[in-house]
Amino acid sequence: MRDELLAGEATPDELDAELAAQPGLRPTELVDFVGQNELKGHLRVMLGAARGRGDPADHLMFAGPPGLGKTTLAHIVANEMGASLNITSGPALERAGDLAAILTKLGDGDVLFIDEIHRLPRTVEEVLYPAMEDFELDIILGKGPGARSIRLELPRFTLIGATTRVGLITGPLRDRFGMEARLDYYEPDELQAIVRRAATILGVAIDDEGAEELARRSRGTPRIANRLLRQIRDFAEVERDGTISGDVAREGLVFFGVDDMGLDKPSRAVIEALCGRFGGGPVGLSTLAVAVSEPTETVEDVYEPYLIQQGLLMRTPRGRIATPLTWSHLGMRAPTETSTLFRE
Ligand SMILES: Nc1ncnc2c1ncn2[C@@H]1O[C@H](COP(=O)(O)OP(=O)(O)OP(=O)(O)O)[C@@H](O)[C@H]1O
Ligand SMILES: [Mg+2]
Repeated sequence: MRDELLAGEATPDELDAELAAQPGLRPTELVDFVGQNELKGHLRVMLGAARGRGDPADHLMFAGPPGLGKTTLAHIVANEMGASLNITSGPALERAGDLAAILTKLGDGDVLFIDEIHRLPRTVEEVLYPAMEDFELDIILGKGPGARSIRLELPRFTLIGATTRVGLITGPLRDRFGMEARLDYYEPDELQAIVRRAATILGVAIDDEGAEELARRSRGTPRIANRLLRQIRDFAEVERDGTISGDVAREGLVFFGVDDMGLDKPSRAVIEALCGRFGGGPVGLSTLAVAVSEPTETVEDVYEPYLIQQGLLMRTPRGRIATPLTWSHLGMRAPTETSTLFRE
C-alpha cells in the first residue's frame, strides 16, 4: 500500500498522514467518488463501453492541482476495469530502459499510472509514443552504424497520466490520450459529503455545522478536508468532548492556524509577503518564492492556484499582484499606487 501511494503523493508527510489515518479513506469505486460529476459521467460511459467490447480503456490524462483525486481516480479506473494497477512517476523514469522494463512486464489490460507525467524526460517520452499508439516497443541494440532496432509487441494496456501542469505536456504526448480530464476545486457541499464520509469511516462524531465549517475551509481540496478532519478530531478529543460541532471546528481551526478563508500558514505567507514586503506587487514569482522560502514550483503549483481562484492574487505579465480582496483579507490598507493598477 505504501509503495502504491509513494509514487503519487505530494509530500512524505502527507503520505504518512494519509496512510496512518486510514487507507480506506480513498474511494475505490466511481459511485463513492464525490463531485466532478461531468468527469464521472464521461468515465462511466468510456469504461462501460470498453468493458462491453472486452477492450482496455483508452489512455486517460488527469490534470489539476494537488489533492483533488487524480491518484484516487487511477485506482478507481483500474478497479472498475478489473485490471491491475502499476504505478510509477515521471521523475522515477530516468532512462528509456526504465520505462521499457515496466512496459514489458505489463499484463493484458493492465493500467499503467504515470504520476507527474510532465516530468518525464524527453527520451523516455519518445518510447511512450509507439507504446500508446500501437502497443509496440522499439528497442535499439548496439551503437553507431552497427545499431539495429527490434520491435517488440506489448500487451494492450491503459496509460493514465496525472499532472499538476498540463501546460508542460508536449503536443505529441497530449494527442495520444483518448481523454484529457481537468479536475476542478470542489464545491462546499461536495466537500461536506467528503468530510461526512471520512468521519463515518474514522468513527468521528461531527454535526452539520462542524462538517460545514471544515468543508468551507478546505480550499476546495479533498486531501485538505481529510487533513482538517483529522486535526480537528484530535482537538475535539483532547480539548473538548470529542464531538466536532461548529464551535469546536472554529476553535480548532484557529488553534491550528487555519484562517477564515481556509488559508494555512504557508499559503497565507505568500500573500503576506506580497503585500507586506512588496507593496502588493508586481513582484516576480521567483522573488516571491525566495521571500517565503519555498521552491518556485511549490508556490506556483500548490499555493497560487487556490489564491488565484479566490481572487487573492493575480498573475500579470509584470509579475504577481495583490487585489483589493487580498488587502482586506489581511486587514491591511492598500497603498494608493496599487489601487491605480485597477483603474488602468
Ligand atoms: N472525490 C473524492 N471523494 C472522496 N475523497 C476524495 C476525493 N478525491 C480525493 N479524495 C481524497 O483525497 C485524498 C487525496 O487524493 P489524491 O491522492 O487522489 O489526490 P491527487 O490529485 O493524486 O494529488 P497529487 O497531485 O498530490 O498527487 C485521497 O486520500 C482521497 O481519500
Ligand atoms: Mg496523486
